[in-house]
Amino acid sequence: MQNAGLKQLELNWRYLAFDVHPDRLLQVLEGMRSMHFVGLNLTVPHKLLALEWVDELDESARRWGAVNTIRFDGQLHDGSWMPVGKAKETGNFQAIRSVGYNTDAEAILTSIREDLALDLKHSCCVLLGAGGAGRVAALKLPEGGVRKLFLVNRTRSKCETIARELQVTHPDLQVEIGYPQSGEKVDLILNATSLGLKASDSMPWDRESLNWDQVSHAYDMIYQPAETPFLKAARLAGCRTANGLGMLLHQGAAALEIWTGQTPPLKTMREALHTHIYPTGSSVESMESAG
Ligand SMILES: NC(=O)c1ccc[n+]([C@@H]2O[C@H](COP(=O)([O-])OP(=O)(O)OC[C@H]3O[C@@H](n4cnc5c(N)ncnc54)[C@H](OP(=O)(O)O)[C@@H]3O)[C@@H](O)[C@H]2O)c1
Repeated sequence: MQNAGLKQLELNWRYLAFDVHPDRLLQVLEGMRSMHFVGLNLTVPHKLLALEWVDELDESARRWGAVNTIRFDGQLHDGSWMPVGKAKETGNFQAIRSVGYNTDAEAILTSIREDLALDLKHSCCVLLGAGGAGRVAALKLPEGGVRKLFLVNRTRSKCETIARELQVTHPDLQVEIGYPQSGEKVDLILNATSLGLKASDSMPWDRESLNWDQVSHAYDMIYQPAETPFLKAARLAGCRTANGLGMLLHQGAAALEIWTGQTPPLKTMREALHTHIYPTGSSVESMESAG
């Protein structure tokens, strides 16, 4: 996705994946700074560790308490800072600073809007999962206009913590822990658990507590497999469905914009993602027809 985007922007850069042990993260980041890397993405468990390492935190990273994107800026002779990626010569920097961002949260709302064509204003949502991604979704959904939010998680205490946070950040939001009453209309059910990644996983929802007839839209943050048992059940019940590929796309596209200062070529990046994640194409078609 990123390399396809870079090519389209005619940048002679490369996006590479490195498997880094958390104990070595700080050394690796210092190495990247020294080698004049333009920037990087981080995934679990590095997102929290990087909070302590970066020189500056963008508002997005401060707000969500996690860094998934870092940009390196070089200091020029006049004291001003310029993204390393924009500099023609990188040898003349007085110093290099790292700035931490978070592009995950916005990507959730963008993908729900785009892939489900759902306006969340005054909506009622059920959120399954309260891990890292679930917490960010819970705190972001009210910004999309969600009026009532049901939080469900195996470890109930995590829902309680998030509910307390929400009371402070969004006092008007109605938050409940557990499932809605039967008959209550649910505009969106969102799976933010990791259940569905493996074929042997149990279902992320409780069959006794949720009647699919109540639900109109379902979103699964998982994108591989393209259709989890959760999405399949939703589709068969007549819901509009989408998987997490759009979320992956938009967090990556936002990162590319941060590094380059240019509008990311979304179409090219989306196609590259589809080609690499669903090489046979059949899964994508089934998702598109479902969505
Ligand atoms: N599309 C994207 O771009 C994107 C981005 C981020 C994450 N994701 C996906 O979102 C999912 C969650 O990621 P995360 O970072 O939030 O992971 P996480 O912090 O490890 O949270 C995992 C969540 O799954 C629940 N869970 C795990 N095993 C379970 C089980 N056996 N029974 C019931 N619940 C179980 C956990 O419940 P407990 O709290 O009780 O442990 C927790 O709510 C993953 O599938 C990940 O791939 C997708």
